[in-house]
Amino acid sequence: MIPRLQAHGIGKAFGATRALHGVDISVAPGEVLAVIGENGAGKSTLMNILSGVHRPDSGTLLVDGHPYRAGDPQAARAHGIAIVHQELCLCDHLTVAENICLGAWPSRHGFLARGQLALKAQAALDRLGADLALASRCGDLSPAQRQLVEIARALAGEPRLLILDEPTSSLGARDIELLFRAIRSLTADGMSVVIISHQLDECRALASRFTVLRDGASVGAGLLAEISDSAVIRLMVGRDLAELYPKAARTPRTRQLALNVTDKVTVDAGEILGIYGLIGAGRSELLHHLFTPPTEKLAGGIGLLSEDRRGEGLLIHRSIADNLTLTCLARLSRWGWLSTGRQHAAATPWIQRLGIKCAGPGQIVRELSGGNQQKVALGRLLHHGCRVLLLDEPTRGIDVGAKAQIYRLISEQAAQGTAVVMVSSYLPELFGVCDSLAVMRQGKLSPPRPVNEWTHEQALAAAV
Ligand SMILES: Nc1ncnc2c1ncn2[C@@H]1O[C@H](COP(=O)(O)OP(=O)(O)OP(=O)(O)O)[C@@H](O)[C@H]1O
Ligand SMILES: [Mg+2]
Repeated sequence: MIPRLQAHGIGKAFGATRALHGVDISVAPGEVLAVIGENGAGKSTLMNILSGVHRPDSGTLLVDGHPYRAGDPQAARAHGIAIVHQELCLCDHLTVAENICLGAWPSRHGFLARGQLALKAQAALDRLGADLALASRCGDLSPAQRQLVEIARALAGEPRLLILDEPTSSLGARDIELLFRAIRSLTADGMSVVIISHQLDECRALASRFTVLRDGASVGAGLLAEISDSAVIRLMVGRDLAELYPKAARTPRTRQLALNVTDKVTVDAGEILGIYGLIGAGRSELLHHLFTPPTEKLAGGIGLLSEDRRGEGLLIHRSIADNLTLTCLARLSRWGWLSTGRQHAAATPWIQRLGIKCAGPGQIVRELSGGNQQKVALGRLLHHGCRVLLLDEPTRGIDVGAKAQIYRLISEQAAQGTAVVMVSSYLPELFGVCDSLAVMRQGKLSPPRPVNEWTHEQALAAAV
């Protein structure tokens, strides 16, 4: 059988950074391939090459056996390749229907054909099984709804190869199920899929084959059914993972109230409170409520890692050093002059501690891989040394190896007396990291209990 896609010897450098060297992948018609690797391994770069966003420096691409001109999004689309990017890129001022058909608005005699636009957009939503109002402005949608619009947009072109770069990062369990069901039915009709996810169980649920990238090269490939999780992780990070939930030594302290979360829920200095709940249960709203108004709170020592890192958490056109030190510039300047040297010196240990893969503290955040951008957003808060930390899904998009490091840093902050509120839809990490746990359902927060007084089943039952 002729592969749907065959990429051979793909190489790509950005200045001195060699993002890919000599990568081979192939996908058969109707097959789902999982591309796995650490943050900065080169996954998104490879997908951007397949979809025509970047031109590779070397290598060949064949689609259904035909060579195709790389570095040309039009050519990719003409060959039936569609991509859902890791960083969502919707036009906020346009409607759901307009965004879904973006780039291919139907016209009649040069005028936008509204009726056709609606039909086409609705068909794409139906293919996904998503229930969204066509006339809603995308700027008003929740992160999960926006992600569904992106996916519907990719499906609207009826692709033969669909590339999904971490498509589930903002989705709740029900939407993930919708997406997976849609993908299974489309692959049964012959569509091929390449999926990137840091959740191995998601890869296993959809894909039959995998390729692992490390430092821009393929280091292993095969059938997912024939490899264990720990063997995949060993390929990814090049070593065994010692301890996923490392804990810093903490001395019991006299209870000292740090924050009232609600009338009945409080957090003490040095305590890590986990809030479990499904996406859409009101968790993010709660954190925002605790945080407003921002300037006052940061000065008073409350830091928020919000769900929308790009919109609220990062200056992506500025350097890593700027982002990490933004909240303490006064400390780094003398007589009003900001010293770049001192700024870089302050940023460098955080780059090491968080394992940020970059060319140096002066690199622009936009040039970092998605997961490494997340680490900068988190590092900025940790560096500020807030008295209270509010963390919304702190390890979303972070690879398994780096997760352990982030859990350690959170635990160290608590050991120094910081009160932490950590929201997550991933129960194992809450059980691994937190002292106490409360569950949120439909905007209501349960009373917190020490984690060892909860079972996974109880927490799940309280959330749904
Ligand atoms: N436009 C760019 N300019 C400079 N360097 C870049 C650019 N895009 C990517 N890189 C670099 O290429 C490398 C691979 O990045 P890539 O985004 O492909 O990683 P990834 O595997 O998708 O990681 P993640 O899991 O964090 O999304 C990184 O070192 C990154 O900094
Ligand atoms: Mg990526």
